[in-house]
Amino acid sequence: MQITVIDRQNQSHELVVEPGTRSNLMMMMVDAGLPVRAECGGSCVCATCHVYVRQAPAGALSELGEDEEDALDLAFEPGPDSRLACQIPITDACDGLKVELAPEWP
Ligand code: FES
Repeated sequence: MQITVIDRQNQSHELVVEPGTRSNLMMMMVDAGLPVRAECGGSCVCATCHVYVRQAPAGALSELGEDEEDALDLAFEPGPDSRLACQIPITDACDGLKVELAPEWP
């Protein structure tokens, strides 16, 4: 299974999900050394794991929850495709998911 992340320099990173290492997208990006601050550790309050979803296979994403929507209000330049990576669990349906790191607050 593979997930693509576009960083803030427009470089593409292919993250390969190994069996038994599935967690959430924020953790995967941190493990891969991508510049995700994830200040709240995945508690859905800081919005520093903000990404734009560029391609989502069917079933890859759950509905936007109220907590995630509230946290996205704190994000820099949120858009219609904004999600918090810590709220995207890695499942088989995520194969082919493509996201872009959102800019950080200046
Ligand atoms: S890590 Fe804080 S909202 Fe995702």
